[in-house]
Amino acid sequence: MTASLSIAAVYERQVGASIARIWENVFDWQHLDALHETSFAAVSLIDNDQSGWRIALTSQPGDAARGQVLKLYADRKNHAYRVVTEQGLGAGSEIRVQMARQSEHQTKVVITYHIDEQDPARLAAIGKGFVTIYTRLWDEDEAMMVRRETLSARPSLPRSAKPLDLGPVQDLPLPKTVTFDGQAVRLALVDGRITAFSAVCPHWLGPLDETEIEDGTVRCPWHNYRFDLRTHTSCDGHGLTLAPVPELTVKDGRAWLGWPGEAPTA
Ligand code: FES
Ligand SMILES: [Fe+2]
Repeated sequence: MTASLSIAAVYERQVGASIARIWENVFDWQHLDALHETSFAAVSLIDNDQSGWRIALTSQPGDAARGQVLKLYADRKNHAYRVVTEQGLGAGSEIRVQMARQSEHQTKVVITYHIDEQDPARLAAIGKGFVTIYTRLWDEDEAMMVRRETLSARPSLPRSAKPLDLGPVQDLPLPKTVTFDGQAVRLALVDGRITAFSAVCPHWLGPLDETEIEDGTVRCPWHNYRFDLRTHTSCDGHGLTLAPVPELTVKDGRAWLGWPGEAPTA
C-alpha cells in the first residue's frame, strides 16, 4: 500500500457462509457483471493464477470512462485479500478484506477502503458512497453463497411414486415453481406447451426461476449461462444439462406432475 493512502471507510458485517465459500466467490470474477449487473456492465479476464486475477471491469452505465483494471492479491494463509485499482477510475486505491471464522456457516468480514485523498470532508463523502455500494454487493454475494451452501448440503430424496395434483390445467398460473421430491421444478409455457424444467442451474446451483423466458431459453442470473428449454441443455457452448425433472401430464382436465410410469390417481 502506498504511504499516502488514507482510510476512507471501514465496513464490517457477518456473512452467513463459510470462509471457503467466500474464497470461491472472491475468485469467481465471472459473476461480477451478472449477479451484480446493476453495478457492473462488463468484465473480462486479463490474467490469473493461484494468488489472484487481473480483470478489466466497467461499472454501470457502461461508458468507457467507467473502466478499471483491478488486481486481486489473495493471502489464503491469513484469510485476507486486497483488490488494487491499477488503472481507470480511482487508480491507486485499494480495498482490503480480512475474514474471521465465527462458526461453520458464519464469517466476519472487515473491509477497509484506502484512497489517495487527504481532505477529511472528501474522504468521508467517498467513504460513505463506498459503504453504500459494498453493502449492496455483499448483500447480493451473501444471498448467492447462502443458497449455494444450502443446496450443496441438500440430501437427494428417493423418487416419489405419487404424482402431484396441480389442479385444473386452465387455472394453473404460469410460470410457477413447485417443489417435487425436494427439488424446485419450474412450469412455464414454451412454444405454446406447458414445460417442466429444473429451477436449479447445473453450473453453481443458481436460480433459473428468476428471469424471463426468451425464445424458449432461460438465463441464470449468477453467471448469465443460458439453457434451451426444449432440449434442457446449454445453448451458449457451456455443455451443461439441466437435472431431470418429473413430467407434466394432463388427465381429465387436471394437471399432474410425476415421474414417467406413475399414473395420476384422482
Ligand atoms: S450458477 Fe453459474 S450460470 Fe448458473
Ligand atoms: Fe460479488
